[in-house]
Amino acid sequence: MPATILLTGGAGFIGSHTYVALVEAGYQVVILDNFSNAARDVPERLAQITGHAVIAHDVDAGDSLALDAVFETYAIDAVVHFAAKKSVPQSLANPQRFFNANIVSLLTLMRAMERHGVNRMVYSSSATVYGAPESLPIPEHAPLRYTNPYGLSKLLGEQFLNQKIRQPQGWDVGVLRYFNPAGAHVSGLIGEAPLSNGGNLMPLLARVAKKELPFLTIFGQNYGTPDGTGIRDYIHVCDLAKGHVQSLEKLLRHRQSHTVNLGKGEGHSVLDLVKTYEKVSGQTIPYRFQDRRAGDVAASFADPSMAADLLDFRAERNLWDMCQSSWRWETLSDPAWQLSEAKPTPRILKMPAAGLSPQDFRH
Ligand code: UD1
Repeated sequence: MPATILLTGGAGFIGSHTYVALVEAGYQVVILDNFSNAARDVPERLAQITGHAVIAHDVDAGDSLALDAVFETYAIDAVVHFAAKKSVPQSLANPQRFFNANIVSLLTLMRAMERHGVNRMVYSSSATVYGAPESLPIPEHAPLRYTNPYGLSKLLGEQFLNQKIRQPQGWDVGVLRYFNPAGAHVSGLIGEAPLSNGGNLMPLLARVAKKELPFLTIFGQNYGTPDGTGIRDYIHVCDLAKGHVQSLEKLLRHRQSHTVNLGKGEGHSVLDLVKTYEKVSGQTIPYRFQDRRAGDVAASFADPSMAADLLDFRAERNLWDMCQSSWRWETLSDPAWQLSEAKPTPRILKMPAAGLSPQDFRH
């Protein structure tokens, strides 16, 4: 019997791609999402991609009673916890809301897991826990610090889970520190929804390429980098998704907790992204320089060796793949753009002959 995995935030950007990777790896998956930042048709799209019916519940990960009902319905073996907020500017504007979504909900979920004897979790953390790095590439043992409420929420989440690992009969936890997720599934059916954009670069590049915005604002042109613009470690969301499967396997097969970077280990500048996106889209992307964005660092990229050694994880897709799949998703999901001359051809996907039902997962 394959393990059953609960995916909180499973309709979101990284959650939906991880859903596909888990189903392809043979897991049974139950999605929880409150759809506050994900489109309602994502489960239907996931069914199209995987060829299986999707089990998705409209539940907030901080709703204790609803969580009990979910754990009583399905024999959950492990949880992958994505449900959280991620926009730094939003966290500065309303820290309380952020702490409720990222910390109170995590604690509520952990208590529900304990009530139902589930003690394995893969946790979405972020390279934001390194703050401004002292040296590059960034290894996992680099000093941890926070510069905004979002960063604090991720650091606290890691620490709560570390406490659980250390207890007798402790939990098995995979903490995954994401660098900069980008791109979309090759089908063009799922990707980063516009409503989830908290100012991240690639969705903005797409909007300029689609002429929804007149130009891209580049924050800073005089960093000590080769072309003067900020450098980040962009990782394809499908590689990132695969990292979750590998982390889960480490927990389920070897009971080995771990904290690892998920990055490609390569840095690309903002101008590298502009040039590559122009090539894949065939559109011009005008840009204007502005002052540095508060809180931004000049360069950040991972030392990916621990994920390679422990999980056998390697991010294989390159910047071209990220830009190309992002553009495919952006144009396929946008009716206005589909009317224009650059309309891509949708892939025809088979619908399932017979799907799974909640009964397949019952105790
Ligand atoms: C940001 C968050 C980080 C979070 C991550 C989630 C900040 C300071 N950091 O990372 O905590 O984990 O998103 O995905 O918000 N850029 C422009 N113009 C734009 C947008 C971005 O020049 O309009 C530049 C930035 O200065 C940076 C690069 O593009 O050099 C990437 O920016 P972004 O996509 O926002 O990611 P991070 O800032 O690395």
